[in-house]
Amino acid sequence: MSTAIKRLPGVEDEQGFTPRPEFKKKSIRSYVIRAGRMTPAQRNAFERNWATYGLSLFDGPVDLVAEFGRSAPLVVEVGFGMGDSLLAQAQAEPDKDFIGIEVHPPGVGRLLNNAADAGVTNLRVFMADANDVLADCIPANSACRFQLYFPDPWHKKKHQKRRIVQPAFVEAVRHILLPGGVFHLATDWEHYADHMMEAMSLAPGFGNQAGEYLFAEKPDFRPNTKFERRGEKLGHGVWDLLFTKK
Ligand SMILES: C[S@@+](CC[C@H](N)C(=O)[O-])C[C@H]1O[C@@H](n2cnc3c(N)ncnc32)[C@H](O)[C@@H]1O
Repeated sequence: MSTAIKRLPGVEDEQGFTPRPEFKKKSIRSYVIRAGRMTPAQRNAFERNWATYGLSLFDGPVDLVAEFGRSAPLVVEVGFGMGDSLLAQAQAEPDKDFIGIEVHPPGVGRLLNNAADAGVTNLRVFMADANDVLADCIPANSACRFQLYFPDPWHKKKHQKRRIVQPAFVEAVRHILLPGGVFHLATDWEHYADHMMEAMSLAPGFGNQAGEYLFAEKPDFRPNTKFERRGEKLGHGVWDLLFTKK
């Protein structure tokens, strides 16, 4: 881990400190910052545990060996929500290092606390826009797996330009994956599953593990996520896609 003093992502205010995600100015964002209430524990997590687990968009490319103190296969996940499934994976696969990227402060706070309570050492977190983190912070050809689980579906036609799965995003993922590395996507929205399949099948430099235009079986390494369970209660199906970088 770097020994430099880390600046907390957020602002000082009457609450003491309010966490805010980092991003660079852009016209279309794939998220809205939800006003969801933070518990005192989630808020305090930043002062307690950001120094151990937090990475800043504005510190540039991550030196992975210096950060994790070893050289190990890297898994990157975007939009980990409340973070429970990502933490479960970091614990289940201690031979790998994990970087999670999320803009929802309560989820980041929860993950910081749970990771610290569990004594996890193979996990780091950006509270920042993933498009910026991929462009500026994750080294090229560095990740063996990239995870995008149940991203916001933006199902209204006029909002679909906000979907995170766009050609430029897919190319940014290809750039950070190692040859042979896997881009794993999952969604519980059939229309978004078709959109993902189209975008991934047309993207240069990827091959579909399941065969052309076919969805994959859910792999054992993906735990059920909070949004997956929510979708199940609503009667949604689940679609997994596994694409390998050529
Ligand atoms: C529908 S939730 C799914 C959360 C979790 N993966 C799950 O399955 O329970 C999508 C998450 O992606 C995050 N998100 C959307 N766009 C993002 C971006 N550009 N950078 C980082 N996180 C993003 C949102 O804040 C939200 O928490």
